[in-house]
Amino acid sequence: MRVYTSNAEISAFIATEKHASFSLGFVPTMGALHAGHLSLVKAALAENTLVVVSVFVNPTQFDNPSDLTNYPRTLTKDIQLLETLSKTRVIVYAPTVSDVYGAETIATHFDFGGLESQMEGKFRMGHFDGVGTIVKRLFEIVKPDTAYFGEKDFQQLQIIKKMVEITQLTVTIVGCPIAREPNGFAMSSRNSRLSSEELEASDLIYKTLLSVKDKFNSESPEYIQQWVSAQFSNHPLFELEYFQISESKTLEPIQQKNQTKTYRAFIAVFARDVRLIDNIALN
Ligand code: PAF
Repeated sequence: MRVYTSNAEISAFIATEKHASFSLGFVPTMGALHAGHLSLVKAALAENTLVVVSVFVNPTQFDNPSDLTNYPRTLTKDIQLLETLSKTRVIVYAPTVSDVYGAETIATHFDFGGLESQMEGKFRMGHFDGVGTIVKRLFEIVKPDTAYFGEKDFQQLQIIKKMVEITQLTVTIVGCPIAREPNGFAMSSRNSRLSSEELEASDLIYKTLLSVKDKFNSESPEYIQQWVSAQFSNHPLFELEYFQISESKTLEPIQQKNQTKTYRAFIAVFARDVRLIDNIALN
């Protein structure tokens, strides 16, 4: 498998591969790959000649230094996992910070039309400027035709679509379904930091979202909000950071149900210092 650490080298390789019927898929990741990432790479392989997977823990999207330090880094294992999908049609870009950022590791400020002020944006200062900056930079280096993102980070997915619209980059953004453990727990690189007790109890998060979906037709948003808070109040392992039902396009919190709109429920929960997020379509 080809593994590049330099933007000049990967750009040169991609340029030599391009021909008339060539299409390039791209899966940006922060590594610590799991079955969820592999499902994105499989989707990309099904639709493209070649797939680039970037493995880069992006410092500018972390507002919490210890979260950045503790983020799992497992490049050798990541490469082995990707090799199980294809040794020739998948290539890895695992750059250093200076290779992508140059001399200054700073994020550009974006106006995402309000998408950035909801949920994750309220609790992780500057997070989406960091995401927008790195994804734009990676798109400029890799120049993919299509890029694949998981719906677990649904707000991120909407923001990346907006970033592409604002910057007029010619890349198609595809959202892929959330990969779940057998108990429904959404797969995430951060899950590797959970204890066996936390993993065993983790079904609570998705079960709560499924109950919310059940209740959505018959109960008011206020009632559902209180019901979710009650599921987590005094929980020995999980602390609720936020729960929000939002309109799927604008991500604005629901006021009154409108039959013509689609809604999603979003949740963020802490298990000690490990932050877990999930979401579900409600209608
Ligand atoms: O979802 C992620 O893993 C990251 O936010 C991304 C898109 C790779 C940007 O660093």
